[in-house]
Amino acid sequence: MKTTKRQSREKSPKSRLRRNTATLRRIAEKEMKRLSPADTKKMSGEDIVKLVHELRVHQIELEVQNEELRTTHVQLEESRTKYSDLYDFAPVGYFTVTDSGMIREVNLTGARQLATDRHLLIKKPFAHFIHKDHADAYYLHSREVTESKDRKACEIQMVRKDKSEFYAQLVSSSMKDISGKTLIRSALMNITERKNAEKELKEHRDHLTELVEDRTAQLGTVNERLEKEINERKRVESESIRTSHLVALGELAAGVAHEINNPINGIINYAQMLANKSPGESREQDIALRLIKEGDRIAVIVNNLLSFARDAHGAKCPVRIHDIISDTLALAQAQIKNDGIHLNASIARGIPNVIAQPQQIEQVFLNLISNARHALNEKYPGTNKNKILTVTATEVTVHNQPHVQVVVHDTGNGIQPGIVHMVLNPFFTTKPSGVGTGLGLSISHGIVSDHGGTLKIESKEGEYTDIIIDLPADRQKK
Ligand SMILES: Nc1ncnc2c1ncn2[C@@H]1O[C@H](COP(=O)(O)OP(=O)(O)O)[C@@H](O)[C@H]1O
Ligand SMILES: [Mg+2]
Repeated sequence: MKTTKRQSREKSPKSRLRRNTATLRRIAEKEMKRLSPADTKKMSGEDIVKLVHELRVHQIELEVQNEELRTTHVQLEESRTKYSDLYDFAPVGYFTVTDSGMIREVNLTGARQLATDRHLLIKKPFAHFIHKDHADAYYLHSREVTESKDRKACEIQMVRKDKSEFYAQLVSSSMKDISGKTLIRSALMNITERKNAEKELKEHRDHLTELVEDRTAQLGTVNERLEKEINERKRVESESIRTSHLVALGELAAGVAHEINNPINGIINYAQMLANKSPGESREQDIALRLIKEGDRIAVIVNNLLSFARDAHGAKCPVRIHDIISDTLALAQAQIKNDGIHLNASIARGIPNVIAQPQQIEQVFLNLISNARHALNEKYPGTNKNKILTVTATEVTVHNQPHVQVVVHDTGNGIQPGIVHMVLNPFFTTKPSGVGTGLGLSISHGIVSDHGGTLKIESKEGEYTDIIIDLPADRQKK
């Protein structure tokens, strides 16, 4: 029997066995050819015995080899089964994909992951099982894998035949088949659970962040409210200290004023008598007139002191703030004009009435206008287009209660920051003696407090001063 070239190249145990049998036969035939029939006849009995022995030895040798081959064959079968089991039932899916993206091989796990029979996957595009949103990611992954010798990993979303989806991690590397074509081998792991856990974790974290932010905001609001409350309490406290201070001072002032009032009137009267009796233009008359002038000044201060000390005088009734402002401005108008001051008055329509003693509130506005005039004249001794006094009245809400707010604004020389806290003190003045008594603002403050209102000062040195008065509105009628 002749062996073909192809057969002789085969390497399987079976073919090796066949080859060995053939070799034995060839040796025997050669031996036989060497011995022509005539030679055989010529052979001695000894030669024939030798030949038969040789052939037997060959035969036994071959049988041993045969047995070895059979064992190897069985072992090979066993290990083949073992490795194909390992391949098929591995915990991850294995895919071998051609360079044109077709599945060439897949293990059973891989087929199960895609919920498709294995034979239906072969020669199908692997991309069919990739979510359309992740097609680009897979394309980039396979390009990276073919261009590099290293293993690469990526996470993509996959779609099964039944349209159900899962997250997969692909770890791939490239190799060449026998014909030199590039193949991609990928191990595929279902990581849906991990992804879901990550998602849940992220949601928890976001929720927690949200809670913390909410809580921080809440605390911020509470903090702000507390701060406001603390400031308000501080204000009320300092206000009540000031008020009690004023009350004590008022009582003292009232006592002193009463003591001074009578004697000073006596002094003025006697001085008047002296003046009347003295010859005109005489030194005596001049002294008497000076006594009267200085005495008058004392009388004015004493009167101021008395009005400062006086508590509730006159009954309070609902009054139109418009009327009070108009009356005050009518009184002060001539002086304002003389000073070359531009006066603006703006009283909002329909603002509520206030419960007030009108003469007292009028006195407050007169004091404020007097201070404003002084400040404006200090800054602009002559006329100036910026020499402005503005009086506005609007309705505001303070502590949820309706109030009328009157702001007396002047563009005068303002108040130095260092003395703002002192200007409300009785007898505090920056004006030369004989010009200021230092009582205007403290009297005004006392009156406004007595009406249940507040007086605030805002000022910028060299620029402006705002005196802001809030008076509780009459809630009965407008
Ligand atoms: N509109 C204002 N512009 C600048 N300073 C002012 C103004 N109003 C008050 N002041 C300051 O407050 C001080 C106290 O004012 P006040 O109690 O009315 O007393 P007086 O006017 O007699 O000085 C003033 O001397 C002045 O320094
Ligand atoms: Mg004054």
